[in-house]
Amino acid sequence: MTVHFIGAGPGAPDLLTLRGRDRIAASPVCLYAGSLVPEGVLAHCPPGAHIVNTASLSLEQILAEISAAHAAGQDVARLHSGDLSVWSAMGEQLRGLRALGIPYTVTPGVPAFAAAAATLEAELTLPGLSQSVVLTRTSGRASAMPSTESLANFAATQAVLAIHLSIHVLPRVVAELSPHYGADCPVAVVWRASWPDERVVRATLSTIEAAVGEGMERTALILVGHTLGAEEFAHSRLYAGDYDRRYRPLGTAPRFPADTE
Ligand SMILES: C[S@@+](CC[C@H](N)C(=O)[O-])C[C@H]1O[C@@H](n2cnc3c(N)ncnc32)[C@H](O)[C@@H]1O
Repeated sequence: MTVHFIGAGPGAPDLLTLRGRDRIAASPVCLYAGSLVPEGVLAHCPPGAHIVNTASLSLEQILAEISAAHAAGQDVARLHSGDLSVWSAMGEQLRGLRALGIPYTVTPGVPAFAAAAATLEAELTLPGLSQSVVLTRTSGRASAMPSTESLANFAATQAVLAIHLSIHVLPRVVAELSPHYGADCPVAVVWRASWPDERVVRATLSTIEAAVGEGMERTALILVGHTLGAEEFAHSRLYAGDYDRRYRPLGTAPRFPADTE
């Protein structure tokens, strides 16, 4: 018996890995995390599967469900939205399973920031503008931020910020970031990326609050940075015609000579 932790993706049921789909289909028990996991993903559960929404359960109750499946010798598919490496509460569950001696696997998923970038048709890292993306959030009731991880500290780097769990404090986000990025810095808010009712607002730090208005609650990502919508940026050297590289050796003395074997 194994517990399969599976990143269920950002919303669209077809943004699930094939491995995730197959593990769901092979598990007679499925625990899924609330409203963010789409029903289309649950449709891969085998007929008669025991399907539990864990939104109202405590960690102890979730571990009790898993222990019951373990006792019955039944594999469990454990679904969380997006990818499991950020804000999934997987860490505490894995620790609990290690203590109980219950084996598990981890299958990645498409994270919300990647789905939002795809919606925006954006490469977030552009040569000469920004080469880093910070996945972050603001303090919530359940999780305080470490004091060193303030928006201002990240903003000092001018990296692109993908701010999660924070649409309800948009005015504070704007106030903290404006001194660093400037009022004209592009901002995009993507609400429910990849869901059928997805919405996108593009603005600047000075106009985003008015542009978002009412009705975009909870499942939204705030992206801030100078690469958003940029047209003025350098080409990458990777595809430059005169760039001597392993897969395209150039000249009489290439840096990586072709394999002569
Ligand atoms: C608890 S976190 C889960 C993050 C998830 N594990 C991931 O890999 O993206 C929930 C937050 O992620 C963002 N989020 C999740 N799904 C989203 C979506 N489809 N569109 C926009 N933002 C989303 C929102 O900021 C939301 O408040």
